[in-house]
Amino acid sequence: MSSIDQLFEKMWKDYIELNPQSLSIVNLLKNEGESIVNDHIALRTFNVGSIAIDQVSKPFLQAGYRECGEYEFTEKKLYAKHFEHGDSSMPKVFISQLIIENFSSDFQMLIKQKIVSVDEKFYAKEDLMVSGRPWDISSDEYFKLKNESDYAAWVASIGFRPNHFTISINHLKKYSDILALNTFLKENGFMLNAQGGEIKGSAEELLEQSSTLANNINIKFSDCDLEVPGCYFEFAKRYADSTGHLYQGFIAKSADKIFESTDVGQ
Ligand code: NI
Repeated sequence: MSSIDQLFEKMWKDYIELNPQSLSIVNLLKNEGESIVNDHIALRTFNVGSIAIDQVSKPFLQAGYRECGEYEFTEKKLYAKHFEHGDSSMPKVFISQLIIENFSSDFQMLIKQKIVSVDEKFYAKEDLMVSGRPWDISSDEYFKLKNESDYAAWVASIGFRPNHFTISINHLKKYSDILALNTFLKENGFMLNAQGGEIKGSAEELLEQSSTLANNINIKFSDCDLEVPGCYFEFAKRYADSTGHLYQGFIAKSADKIFESTDVGQ
């Protein structure tokens, strides 16, 4: 197995530990005779030095991935890039980063303090994205960050772990229609993110997506344990463009709403 395959396997194991509902959904679909293909993995970080996108994307670039698109999320103050591999059976990798300069000086200082409290070598690890949270954080700090950005609170409390994996609806047979898949998931007790409607995007935009709501996970803060939103599972259906090629990009407007799958109190 190549090291990138090993990294993806580690990521999947780490992810289902945080989000066991994903494994339940995979098993549920397999029982229906479906085969599961991962469309993309999403990773989150801050735009700061050694943990910015250009740094954390290195293991993927070294494994043959290349940059294929960039995205701006003005309201959430995020910037993202997506990466594709020459072997189209490999999942796309979507990495977003929070632009911390757009927040209060206290907020920026808090994030920078967390980052510099860790040895730089930690951030250079090939498997950084499955290495968890390397810094301590108090519940008070968590809520200070959350007050300005749910995304910041997620990264600061959970650390470097995959945010979501994505089932390719195109590879499903019985549930190749996103509406049919959503109905099936809800009938089986899974909650979907309804922010901006359950289905984000459209066939005309060449991409339809839906996602579960993040389950809560127990996080150890320096002063207490708290339940916070963890990870969600995503579903993507891609359509061919006018030249007959299956669209491989992302739609900022849709992703914007999908980010909210980890917001508190939906
Ligand atoms: Ni996604």
